[in-house]
Amino acid sequence: MNEYDSELLSGILLNAGYRNSLDPEQADVILLNTCSVREHAEQKIHSRLGELKQIKERHPGIKIGLLGCMAQNVRNEILRNKPYVDLILGPDAYRNILEHIESTKKHSADTKLSKYEVYEDLFPARKGGVNAWISISRGCDKFCAYCIVPYTRGRERNRKLSGILEEARTAVRNGFPEITLLGQNVNSYRDADKRFPDLLRSLAEQVPGLRRIRYTSPHPRDVDEALMQVHAEYKPLIANHIHLPLQAGSNAVLAAMNRSYTREHYLKLVEMIRSFVPDMAISTDIIVGFPGESDADFRQTLDIMQQLRFDSAFTFKYSPRPHTRAWKLHDDVSEAEKASRLTELITLQKKHTLQRNRAMIGREVEVLVESGSKRRPEEMMGRTSCNKVLVFPREQYRRGDLIRRKVTQARGVTLISRPDENE
Ligand code: 5AD
Ligand code: SF4
Repeated sequence: MNEYDSELLSGILLNAGYRNSLDPEQADVILLNTCSVREHAEQKIHSRLGELKQIKERHPGIKIGLLGCMAQNVRNEILRNKPYVDLILGPDAYRNILEHIESTKKHSADTKLSKYEVYEDLFPARKGGVNAWISISRGCDKFCAYCIVPYTRGRERNRKLSGILEEARTAVRNGFPEITLLGQNVNSYRDADKRFPDLLRSLAEQVPGLRRIRYTSPHPRDVDEALMQVHAEYKPLIANHIHLPLQAGSNAVLAAMNRSYTREHYLKLVEMIRSFVPDMAISTDIIVGFPGESDADFRQTLDIMQQLRFDSAFTFKYSPRPHTRAWKLHDDVSEAEKASRLTELITLQKKHTLQRNRAMIGREVEVLVESGSKRRPEEMMGRTSCNKVLVFPREQYRRGDLIRRKVTQARGVTLISRPDENE
């Protein structure tokens, strides 16, 4: 989402005549687009701001801006303690970025959240590659107990279906054969009586030249048979992959997290998904050490992982965030315990990822060619529909080609297709 927002901001600035600079010492404006989802992300920005302060001492004319969720979250502290930061703009204030940059005020800050802003009709400046991000909604109304997003990004609002279709067509015309629809809760999308599965159907039918559709992240609560029906109908144009954040495997922890499903619901949901699309790759997000999570609760998370064997997982130690409901709870799982749970979880996930990838050996997969391989000039890389990286001989392939290759090896997270090197 932040990558998309940065492309949106680049689009506005490039349109106004600004140019990218690779050297911060040469820049007139330096904008940091920030994340507040965990404390660690904020710490990294504090140290980056320290470096920028030194650059500003050498080049006092430079304007430094702090943008995004952190601007929303720590505005007053920055104004008080880091006077060298000139602009502070929350995620709904980007439309007026030029006025803020050109303002002669000592500080220019706007952290108002909007009920309406969806940045319709602003076109992002996309980086090369095969995938175009398209934001379809902003904000979130789910209020998971650990999550700062509803406070930093505000209420959920959706773009018009027609605007999304138009942006997808433009992206394809500009050379992007793949799109990824983005939303904090991408599948709670609606525009009048049209819901997320209708949007997928419209994109699949009405965007000539589009080769692959992805989306992230859905909330398990809004995944239903209608969605899986569209997956089954438009396979492989709609990719065989769903990111389905589990967060925790114990019902007590899920309830405390306000996730609105139980472990039984989640297991049933995966069963339903696999009944429509048997080879659907499933990835997830998991948090360890939420307040009150006992060792037995944590074992329940491992148990679900054993039952489902996710293709991949993003795993996090719980980090208390201000404004959230969990902020008031005692952060009672020690750092050492969180670290050891995380290690155990990552070890198990690595095993499952490798098992799942090994099961692909001998199968032919559809791959969207992305770029040359960094390690071997005679090879290229691309992604399978299941969102796995495949490395293969360069041959006559070009970026954007949709090709079929047989998997010959699985190395950790990477699949390999080398005709003369079977595993
Ligand atoms: N602590 C740890 N992880 C978090 N996430 C969101 N908030 C927190 C937090 N306070 C994780 C969730 C979410 C992902 C984007 O970040 O797993 O799905
Ligand atoms: Fe945060 Fe929950 Fe909304 Fe995801 S669904 S952004 S975890 S509040």
